[in-house]
Amino acid sequence: TLPSRVQLIDVGPRDGLQNEKPPVPAEIKIGLVHRLQAAGLTEIEVTSFVSPKWVPQMADNAVVMAGIERQVGVRYSVLTPNMVGFQAAVASRPHEIVVFGAASQAFSQKNINCSIEESMERFAPVVQAALAAGIAVRGAMSCTVGCPYEGEVSAASVAHLAGLMKQIGVQRVDVADTIGTGTPLKVQKAIEATLQHFDIDHICGHFHDTYGQALANTLAALQLGVWNFQSSVAGLGGCPYAKGATGNVATEDLVYMLHGMGITTGIDLDKLVDAGAFISDFLGRKPNSNVAQAILNK
Ligand code: HMG
Ligand code: MG
Repeated sequence: TLPSRVQLIDVGPRDGLQNEKPPVPAEIKIGLVHRLQAAGLTEIEVTSFVSPKWVPQMADNAVVMAGIERQVGVRYSVLTPNMVGFQAAVASRPHEIVVFGAASQAFSQKNINCSIEESMERFAPVVQAALAAGIAVRGAMSCTVGCPYEGEVSAASVAHLAGLMKQIGVQRVDVADTIGTGTPLKVQKAIEATLQHFDIDHICGHFHDTYGQALANTLAALQLGVWNFQSSVAGLGGCPYAKGATGNVATEDLVYMLHGMGITTGIDLDKLVDAGAFISDFLGRKPNSNVAQAILNK
């Protein structure tokens, strides 16, 4: 049976904007977060405390976090790849930090400059420090169905990574299709592999829409009982270390599908479309969302 309610995490301000070349001013990022929470999003991935040499767009992380007028009931998360990033993030009082690893060695090297095993050595103290400080911990698992450098990724590699994440104390994980090459049965295999170590309530679907498969992949995940998903308003984004990958599934498209299936999200679709139009206007393009286009053209 399908879940009756889905919890969405909008990753637009982070996953979405990290790939934009021209700097987006902090006040625009803050304005986007405000519009997302006004639309009913209760989890927002705001920014990442990564090296500004690697991802210049996220260099204003602390400014953005400090500028948000926090709304009760909304949880704000940030990416922290190592202790340097975690220590910088703590002052921003995130509700959740995200360590991010990969199911493929090549992607781990390109994205965070170390092997999968080394990444765990870096993440372990971050996870411990976060939990000790009362901050929740999520682990993003990249390339769970395909890798831009290695091609197909096996379910065994996904299970291995999930096991490592569990061992170091990560509380929940994202099954990510980083480059959006996945199709429903492959995504189900990746989720089933993750289920060896995490229960269904602690697995989030994170699907990029490069090949237009993200909604189908979401449905496949829903059928397994997954009820936490990440998406990006206006379909923003991509990863700078995954060339050619486009944004996450648009939050607007996901919300439309879920509501149409009678699944509640707590999100006001019209306000969400406004949030997407706000950031798309700033970027000088149309929202990368069929639903947003349809509503805006009505
Ligand atoms: P490195 O060069 O190996 O790091 O990078 P290092 O430890 O050798 O340090 C080198 C310098 O960077 C030092 O400064 C450090 O202090 C500094 P220096 O002494 O040269 O002046 N440094 C930092 N500065 C700020 N914040 C930090 C930090 N760490 C070190 N946290 C590192 C390793 C992990 C830092 C680098 O590779 C990096 O920042 N990578 C991030 C890449 C990234 O953000 N990718 C996108 C996010 S992942 C994603 O999008 C996928 C996801 O959406 C899921 C999916 O779809 O798959 C999550
Ligand atoms: Mg991503």
